[in-house]
Amino acid sequence: MPSYRDFHRLSIDDPETFWREQARRIHWDTPFDTVLDRSNPPFARWFVGGRTNLCHNAVDRHLADRAQQNALVYVSTETGIERRYTYAELYAEINRMAAVMRSLGVKRGERVLLYLPMIPEALFAMLACARLGAIHSVVFGGFAAPSLAARIDDAKPVLIVTADAGARGGKVIDYTPLMDEALARAKHQPAHVLLIDRQLAPERLNATYLVAYEPLREQFFDAHVPCEWLESNEPSYVLYTSGTTGKPKGVVRDVGGYAVALAASMEYIFQGRAGDTMFTASDIGWVVGHSYIIYAPLLAGLTTVMYEGTPIRPDGGIWWRLVEQHRINLMFTAPTALRVLKKQDPALLKKSDLSSLRTLFLAGEPLDEPTSAWIADALGKPVVDNYWQTETGWPILAIPGGVEALPPKLGSPGVPSYGYDVTLRNEATGDECTPGEKGVIAIGYPLPPGCMKTVWGDDARFVSTYWSSVPGHQLYSTFDWGIQDEDGYVTILGRTDDVINVAGHRLGTREIEEALSSHAAVAEVAVVGVTDVVKGQVAFAFVVVRDAQQFADDKARNKLASELMKTVDRQLGAIGRPARVLLVSMLPKTRSGKLLRRAIAALAEGREPGDLPTIEDASALTMVRDALAGR
Ligand code: PRX
Repeated sequence: MPSYRDFHRLSIDDPETFWREQARRIHWDTPFDTVLDRSNPPFARWFVGGRTNLCHNAVDRHLADRAQQNALVYVSTETGIERRYTYAELYAEINRMAAVMRSLGVKRGERVLLYLPMIPEALFAMLACARLGAIHSVVFGGFAAPSLAARIDDAKPVLIVTADAGARGGKVIDYTPLMDEALARAKHQPAHVLLIDRQLAPERLNATYLVAYEPLREQFFDAHVPCEWLESNEPSYVLYTSGTTGKPKGVVRDVGGYAVALAASMEYIFQGRAGDTMFTASDIGWVVGHSYIIYAPLLAGLTTVMYEGTPIRPDGGIWWRLVEQHRINLMFTAPTALRVLKKQDPALLKKSDLSSLRTLFLAGEPLDEPTSAWIADALGKPVVDNYWQTETGWPILAIPGGVEALPPKLGSPGVPSYGYDVTLRNEATGDECTPGEKGVIAIGYPLPPGCMKTVWGDDARFVSTYWSSVPGHQLYSTFDWGIQDEDGYVTILGRTDDVINVAGHRLGTREIEEALSSHAAVAEVAVVGVTDVVKGQVAFAFVVVRDAQQFADDKARNKLASELMKTVDRQLGAIGRPARVLLVSMLPKTRSGKLLRRAIAALAEGREPGDLPTIEDASALTMVRDALAGR
């Protein structure tokens, strides 16, 4: 193995040679004729002309060597159900699902929206789409009807797959009334809605185009559906994520580049080998779930553990018992889960045999040093941070232990991954920062394989959102601040835009503001992210009401605050609910009317907002201070 520095250098200087070699990790039905097409920047096309299929590479290809190895171990502490599927059984289930979808008219290039809890059928459905060449769009089960409707209208699915209910923390969440409302709101209507009946909630879906999965599965029990060989650059999925505007962006992923990038990451970053068992505690509605519950472990021939439940039910030892029972080698979760576990009885950790576990990976939000030190010490295993985004699909910054055992540095997720030409840029000039200088984390063209191809249905938005914010250069902006040290390690310092990160869930403050503004009493609102010891960040909403006299007393104010929280629950889902709603009579703004969000956030965190020469009326700051102090 070369040094990591040389390895990374080659990937940037000669991406064709580097990625041609990596492409051998997957099966190509037709070989590609061009590794990289850079004729139309900032768009890049990888492995042009090559034909492949994600489902074939994740499942069929392993049947020769590992048909009887577990592909999927499913555990739900919500329902008490535990199931195992070998690669052969997984193949059969995916074929049944694909045959059902095909019978409902799903074809290559068409979208299938999945609104599903963490059940095995969610994995079958994603891979069945991949098999058929259909484009899946998984919508996180915590999103409320209006958010779901917006995604239906954007993706225009021919089929929606849903379930009667999800479950979390012992509570059943009915999905069907939500789906009904979403369909009533959406302009686009799918041809069918396929329902997986878990028998958790009375099935109340009104849709006349409703079909039950179980009888169809029986009907197609012995089906074999051939894989569609897709050109490497055809879309595999659309995954919506939040940004600066209220309208979520559909991140489009390709087929070949994604398969190659994930397979390579399993060796170089996660060091997972065929036959290992990996437990990624995330949700299929998020990118970590797409890449490291579903695709990467299966592409590399691992056993993936899919878990429905919380880390603390029935008690805080549940994850460690899973490690022992299933001989888990690799774990991957978000720091929030550990901050929750840290509050539990530490003896629970010692009760299980953790000898199979090699490494715990963490991503999705800043890993604070106390949590990192606590878990590394308690586990006695390496804890490895990595930094990336829905847009990139796999780590931008990591410790590439599969290439060279670089020492981790506390507070940093590591160095730029191979394929990523990362530089830190001055926000105002676009110039490269010197080591130790704070700047925006940018990535040079082309983004490596596996990263987003475009915004669904909106190429112009891809260019204007991501490639136009660093002055004087066509660079991809991550919208994260960072600092790079002399050795190349980057420390993340938070977002440059209006995105916040609540318990590892990415939310746009604008989306929450839009939800709050739909309440009749609200004239104006500002939502900011505020540091929280467990969730990393929480949302605080500062609301200006239309008629202040109506809310003069505490009782009326409290009633309004709880109504506003319910409004967010209904519009966006409980994950968007602000931790506090505070009434103010004015919001701090610049003379040109721009909200001074950073100043509001500073006050909410008990910091001084610094110099604000452009502020319209400084007394607005006092009002924010008073509201925070309950005055
Ligand atoms: O702000 C960064 C933060 O999460 C954002 C991306 O969130 P999402 O699209 O949900 O993708 C998560 C994929 C792991 C980033 O822009 N973030 C992600 N990982 C880290 C992080 N912040 C600090 N440290 C990390 N390791």
